[in-house]
Amino acid sequence: MSSNVSPTLNVMISAARKAGRSLIRDFGEVEHLQVSVKGPANFVSAADHKAEDIIFRELSKSRGTYGFLMEERGEIVGADKTHTWIVDPLDGTTNFLHSNPLFAISIGLEREGQLVAGVIYNPASDELFTAEKGKGAYLNDRRLRVAARKNLGDALVTTGIPHRGREGHARFLKEMDVLMKEVAGIRRTGSAALDLAFVAAGRFDAYWEHNLQPWDVAAGIVIAREAGAFVTDLNGGDKMLETGDVLAANATIHKALGSYLIRKS
Ligand code: IPD
Ligand code: CA
Ligand code: CA
Repeated sequence: MSSNVSPTLNVMISAARKAGRSLIRDFGEVEHLQVSVKGPANFVSAADHKAEDIIFRELSKSRGTYGFLMEERGEIVGADKTHTWIVDPLDGTTNFLHSNPLFAISIGLEREGQLVAGVIYNPASDELFTAEKGKGAYLNDRRLRVAARKNLGDALVTTGIPHRGREGHARFLKEMDVLMKEVAGIRRTGSAALDLAFVAAGRFDAYWEHNLQPWDVAAGIVIAREAGAFVTDLNGGDKMLETGDVLAANATIHKALGSYLIRKS
């Protein structure tokens, strides 16, 4: 993180680290439960709730008046209507459930309708992605910058694949049919938060996904933008949290990739 971290970002970081310690303890248990017939599903759901409780407690303790939008608790209106924490205590649940270490805690802060700070923490790799509006994005102490590739043909792109019980299978297949012939590679990490953080870090050249929830992407939007990414909805606008559509990349790749994506009719 930068040397001039605001007190608010510090609060977010310490909440994420504390919840991370809880998640990582439970992650160790999942490996054992993996072999049982019942599997670790209930256990993981408890781990998720535990992490959210910690984040809720820590953020409430330091900023008692702010509102919340949390995956498990839903919306909690605060006395201060201008600030909302947008929290996913465990993004990448399916990975976690399968002992796969690609998961993260995601905490975003919205101020007067604008996303102004984000923290994404993967306790398995101890990678902490942070950003505040106007102050740049960081991975631990290292300043982040999006990849500079200009050709879609060289781009490594990450996305989300709608699974059982989700809508959008046909649209995804249509997009894939066209895009796989145009790009260097397509990946699926299983964590929207990490997808955006990895775009910020230049590990992916672009990310797109449909039907996301605000807590999947709030923190990642700030981090990717502060690393120089264009992050928009599919109309090139700012309605990612409302539409659930996100496209993130450097300006050139953003334009090229965007022309292939299908808007919901
Ligand atoms: C999911 C992950 C995944 C995305 C899904 C999300 P969860 O969140 O971010 O990458 O494709 O749409 O629901 O359930 O692991 O918190
Ligand atoms: Ca999520
Ligand atoms: Ca989640």
